[in-house]
Amino acid sequence: MSLSIPFPVDVVVMAAGKGTRMKSRLPKVLQRLAGVPLVQHVLNTAAQLNARSAVVITGHGADQVEPWVLAPGQALAVQCVRQEPQLGTGHAVQQAVPVLANDGVVIVLSGDVPLTEADTLQALIAMCGGDKLALLTIDFVDPTGYGRIVRQGDAVQAIVEHKDATDAQRQIQEVYSGIMAVPTELLKSWLSRIDNQNAQGEYYLTDVVKLAVADGVPVVAHKIKDPLQVAGINSPLQLAELERAHQLRQANRLMEQGVRLKDPSRFDLRGQLDCAQDVEIDVNCIFEGQVSLGEGVKVGAHCVIANCTIAAGAVIHPFTHIDGEKSGVSVGERALVGPFARLRPGAQLGPEVHIGNFVEVKNSTMAAGAKANHLAYLGDATVGERVNYGAGSITANYDGANKHRTVIEADVHIGSNCVLVAPVTIGAGGTVGGGSTITKSTDPGALSVGRGKQVSIANWKRPDKTSKKHFG
Ligand code: UD1
Ligand code: CA
Repeated sequence: MSLSIPFPVDVVVMAAGKGTRMKSRLPKVLQRLAGVPLVQHVLNTAAQLNARSAVVITGHGADQVEPWVLAPGQALAVQCVRQEPQLGTGHAVQQAVPVLANDGVVIVLSGDVPLTEADTLQALIAMCGGDKLALLTIDFVDPTGYGRIVRQGDAVQAIVEHKDATDAQRQIQEVYSGIMAVPTELLKSWLSRIDNQNAQGEYYLTDVVKLAVADGVPVVAHKIKDPLQVAGINSPLQLAELERAHQLRQANRLMEQGVRLKDPSRFDLRGQLDCAQDVEIDVNCIFEGQVSLGEGVKVGAHCVIANCTIAAGAVIHPFTHIDGEKSGVSVGERALVGPFARLRPGAQLGPEVHIGNFVEVKNSTMAAGAKANHLAYLGDATVGERVNYGAGSITANYDGANKHRTVIEADVHIGSNCVLVAPVTIGAGGTVGGGSTITKSTDPGALSVGRGKQVSIANWKRPDKTSKKHFG
């Protein structure tokens, strides 16, 4: 939905609460859902509203929360305001008053409610319209603990907190989600008038409703049906439940696009996954960061794939770990990777490359048709077309201080268990005998062998338990 809203929107994110039930040293709003801190989900949604600014109210764990939210790369202008001590949600928003311009609308969000959708907030802002108080509400079968929406006829009269509610009010199933949109100037005047005369001795933000009613300002409610959008997180159990619900939604979205997931309940996406047609993903795979899968890509069970581009027709066999981190990994068309392979940052595999079990590739390019099928390490290497890199061979790329490159030209055959001591170049079409330690570059077409010459002693008698003398 794209509504043109004729007033600036500023976001206030309450994030000062303790989160006692998480029982964690990490502040609650920095706990991760789908790989992203809760407060960052909220800021990402705020950014989609084209908000002018965001003010994050910090308190508990502020020394950890503030560096995160103020780090470069936020899509909107963020500032932090401290709330110390924490005297309630009304007191929290009061702390933002000095930094909020009067000419806009404030949308109040909680740092521990990560899955509200931008469309929902747009609709709430539209209902506020710059001159009304708009509340996001929902019906709960069990509303215990929540603030109840008290209406007279249709008109909202007040929010009454559970602890302050009468038995009759506790029957009300419509609850306040914790999210409101309110004209800033009105908010400021109401906040200056709230008190803490209630069951919890706190300054309640929800008390602005009765002040609005008293001032004759219309109070409107936008009632939604989707509980995930207002679900807050207080405990590891709730965090895990919301994670599963969110993952299932992401899985369903991918399946609607045609992606074939073997089991949507055993799928995790912690970032962005772009899939072309006819992609198949087996169970228990985790995708992180930016991953793109070309047409017909198959990913076997139990793979972890992060920051990687996989071209059409490639097959990633089970238990493969790919992490491109910042430099990325690319896998070429029809390449075969795994099982039990490890691709690290800067691994660039061309078309039809084969990487087999227990092979690690880092910061290396492998041209079309190159193969390393068993138990090998390629680091800082440039590998030509059709190279066959034998079992157990490694590039010794690190001399203890610096890293050096290994160049293996096209059509080279590296035998098993070789050590290529970089910097070194193996000339095109050359062969390296098994067990060689290669320290000097080799000429194209040459056979190079660098190992002790084999010695055989005829009729050698092994020592046995009765021998006194120690041989060798
Ligand atoms: C609040 C609402 C309640 C609503 C519920 C929805 C009030 C008084 N009540 O209750 O009507 O149904 O949310 O979840 O607002 N926080 C601060 N500083 C404080 C207190 C809280 O920053 O001094 C932050 C918390 O970290 C949290 C958010 O505000 O992110 C909400 O606080 P919480 O204590 O969870 O509010 P509830 O009592 O659940
Ligand atoms: Ca509370």
